[in-house]
Amino acid sequence: MIASSQSFAPPSLTITDLDTTAVSHITPPGEDVIAGLTQRQKTLPPRYFYDATGSQLFEQICTLPEYYLTRTEAAILAEFAGEIAAVTGRCELVELGSGSSTKTRHLLDAYHLLGGTLDYVPIDVSREILVESAEALLADYPRLRVQGLVGTYEQALTHLPVSPDAPRLVIFLGSTLGNLTPEACDRFFAQLETALNPGDYLLLGVDLQKDPNILEAAYNDAQGVTAAFNRNILAHLNWRFGGNFDLEQFQHRAVYNAAAGQIEAYLDSGRSQTVQLTDLNLTVNFAPGESLHTEISRKFHLPTLQTELQNHHLTTRQIWTDPQTWFAVVLAQRQS
Ligand code: AVJ
Repeated sequence: MIASSQSFAPPSLTITDLDTTAVSHITPPGEDVIAGLTQRQKTLPPRYFYDATGSQLFEQICTLPEYYLTRTEAAILAEFAGEIAAVTGRCELVELGSGSSTKTRHLLDAYHLLGGTLDYVPIDVSREILVESAEALLADYPRLRVQGLVGTYEQALTHLPVSPDAPRLVIFLGSTLGNLTPEACDRFFAQLETALNPGDYLLLGVDLQKDPNILEAAYNDAQGVTAAFNRNILAHLNWRFGGNFDLEQFQHRAVYNAAAGQIEAYLDSGRSQTVQLTDLNLTVNFAPGESLHTEISRKFHLPTLQTELQNHHLTTRQIWTDPQTWFAVVLAQRQS
């Protein structure tokens, strides 16, 4: 049962599947894997981390002592959600990559307090997660209305529901922005510039540049959860594309590239080996020690980020950080 409704009230939960067929014609499944594995520096798109096991491992990463990002961002939101809501006033909340919506609850608390109906548009590629977290939220917020969108950020940004009476606040937390190359980040801001109306807001959670030892520890935890998360991308390719990656023959490595301001994650081949991905008709050879690049996690410099936002008419209104300035929540507004 997806839509729940009382006799005279409109349904407070709707879920819309954005058309994915058009996109899959442009990019047949696995094309991005073939492209990445046939480059000189082999790479994989980070979204392949997040199958069911990978999503669980990521949840575990978020609780690791070394992985300060999640708890620091949650603390900032817990402390300043009221101030954020005071700056924007009533808004429709649109969240990109909402997942379990846990940290979002601080914002929902603050916006719910402003009174009236609270519209929340969570966007996620997983319909299951959307339905599950929406139902949990509706049980806790009596004036909440949820319009979930199943799809990618790109699809969602071109399909945002019209919000006639309140500005929108687009929420993008967890420093997920850091997975995008600078070029992809710029394209993303350009899409936002088009999708937002003048006066709409953007709330970004971003990890900041800091002591490389702290950064490297966050991606090389003592319990090896991040290593398991990194290797799981291969297990995902195995089940999804009929692959035979031997996970034990790949070593996790994460290093901070200070010049680029980013953590870079790799899987290093322990020996010379050949991997088949049957469903993709792909054979891949690895030399001993050859690396497969799985992820970048950019660490931001706030003045630079503000300039990049401003290039797309997204003006920074206020920035909130933790006492150590390790993480920032940036509120920007689409200019007229
Ligand atoms: C979800 C992309 C923000 O880059 O810190 C955590 C993913 N990778 N540990 C990050 C991740 C390894 C995470 N993001």
